[in-house]
Amino acid sequence: MAIPSQIIQEITDKCDIVDLVSKYVRLKRSSGEYVGLCPFHGEKTPSFHVSADKQLYHCFGCGEGGTVINFVMKMENLSFLEAVKFLGERVGVAVPESTDYDDKIAKRKQRLYEINKEAGRFFYTSLGSDEGKVAREYFASRGLSKETVVKFGLGFAPYSWDKLLKHLKSKGFSEYEAIDAGLIVKGQKGSAYDRFRNRVMFPIFDIRGNLIAFGGRVLDDSKPKYLNTSDTPVFDKSSNLFALNLAKKSANKTFVVVEGYMDVITLHQYGIDTAVASLGTSLTDGHALLLKRYADEVVLCYDSDEAGIKAANRGMEILSRHDIKTKIITLPGSKDPDEFCRKNGVDAFKMAVSGAKNPVLYKIGNLKEKYDLSEPDQKVEFLKAAADELVKLNSIMEQEIYAKEISVLCDVSYESVMAQIKQKRKSYVRKEEKKELEATIRDLNQKTIVKDGKNKLLTETEEKLINLMFYSHQAYEYLSKKYKSEDFSEPLLGGLFEKICELKTDKSDIAESEFISNFPLEDSSRIAKILNIKNSYPDLVLAATQISQSLDKLKRDIRIKDLAKSHDMLKVKEMISARNRKED
Ligand code: CTP
Ligand code: MN
Repeated sequence: MAIPSQIIQEITDKCDIVDLVSKYVRLKRSSGEYVGLCPFHGEKTPSFHVSADKQLYHCFGCGEGGTVINFVMKMENLSFLEAVKFLGERVGVAVPESTDYDDKIAKRKQRLYEINKEAGRFFYTSLGSDEGKVAREYFASRGLSKETVVKFGLGFAPYSWDKLLKHLKSKGFSEYEAIDAGLIVKGQKGSAYDRFRNRVMFPIFDIRGNLIAFGGRVLDDSKPKYLNTSDTPVFDKSSNLFALNLAKKSANKTFVVVEGYMDVITLHQYGIDTAVASLGTSLTDGHALLLKRYADEVVLCYDSDEAGIKAANRGMEILSRHDIKTKIITLPGSKDPDEFCRKNGVDAFKMAVSGAKNPVLYKIGNLKEKYDLSEPDQKVEFLKAAADELVKLNSIMEQEIYAKEISVLCDVSYESVMAQIKQKRKSYVRKEEKKELEATIRDLNQKTIVKDGKNKLLTETEEKLINLMFYSHQAYEYLSKKYKSEDFSEPLLGGLFEKICELKTDKSDIAESEFISNFPLEDSSRIAKILNIKNSYPDLVLAATQISQSLDKLKRDIRIKDLAKSHDMLKVKEMISARNRKED
């Protein structure tokens, strides 16, 4: 039994697609539609269209498209059933529970959530048992209260090769499911054993509160210090943040991003309930998208070592790419936020957060550390390096503000710092333009990928137009005037166009079988497929205009791409700026 269609209808009726997509993508209104940067493929110019009238989205860059349901399936990595439930919850429509929905992926994920939950219970119980004494002492030695242990559901994986496996089996889970969840590993000789042994355990939840993975830490100095669940169908470390399930509930919208589990837990214990951590990886676009949904501002607080500075720089770049307001703090004299808070108290940490530096000041601060400003030649080097940073600021006002700070710092005139910036600005802008151009060309190359001599998107778009012409007389009138058969990228498509023009002389419909019989037998199935393209456009003429516009754009992009191959860069630049002007 599938989900009753009236329930799906009710949910899609109540969810506004513009509203929903806006939670993930910044949309701009543009001639009756909304456009933005596609969240499903990297791009610099917006190809992602959302139509409020049709309640559909479509990306002209990668071809993704569909309804609200398709959107959350893709965006939240959900199966159809999960997506319907997800949206149902948002709009207050109950989806009846039924075990016989035909949804294999949902079932597999459901089992993974359940097995993780059972494992979480097992670890938690072990922590409270006799053998968990060492782990309880460990948490206490790190300053964690009992409440914190409960709140985070911390646990202990006992020193045993099969205790968890036996437990899971006794609860009705198979060895296969335990392996699927990454809780059990199969050795070379084929025997299965517990992956986490003699470790304190940190359960990881997704934003909906499902237990999706674990991190396990040794109790001493042995290696590896942390062991994490590797990626599974429910866990992708590049799109989950530790403790985001808690942080998202906070009234405070300034999120603190730290490196480690213990940093997050200590901060929460001290009342900083917006602390989250990326799970042993540097910040990704997936993390940025998540943060953007819940936070107004992000404060990066990485460890004070070289790796931490690198991570902060990378993090700033990613967050700025997603237009997230970002600040950075460093915690002098401590390895990480956990140590800092325990040494100096949480008020000192809060002070640091309120004094967090914006990316420019942070970078200048780091530069300053590298030079001895009492030495004249080093001062010159510092000034040059600082000007290289300030040159990146697009507003003169900002340049001036920081130039003033630096001039005071180095005791040189403000004018000379500004002069240095101005001198470098031109070549910087040129370099940036070149980078931008190269990025746009890469973008275009992606959009116009050719496979087996065919550009899939181009073919699909042309096929859609043929289909519309065939079935809608008004679309036919519009398109037959606009195109000629030579405009199509394949002789067959041009031939179909011509034949439709020939047969559509009166207003009557053309019979499919008769139409197909005009073409060689070997083309029949392709033509039938083209005529069978399902469309759900409420207004066929509007669809014809829009699709033909995107065809024109696509063809223009292909021309630009071909020109770029011939290295006529001046012309390419001209065409790209004309293209970008139009799309603004
Ligand atoms: N990490 C990991 N695997 C490792 C080491 C680290 O996944 N082998 C991740 C963990 O999420 C860890 C974070 O990177 O929390 C930061 O690592 P590190 O600074 O080494 O650990 P701390 O969080 O400071 O750990 P602790 O305070 O428990 O020593
Ligand atoms: Mn630490």
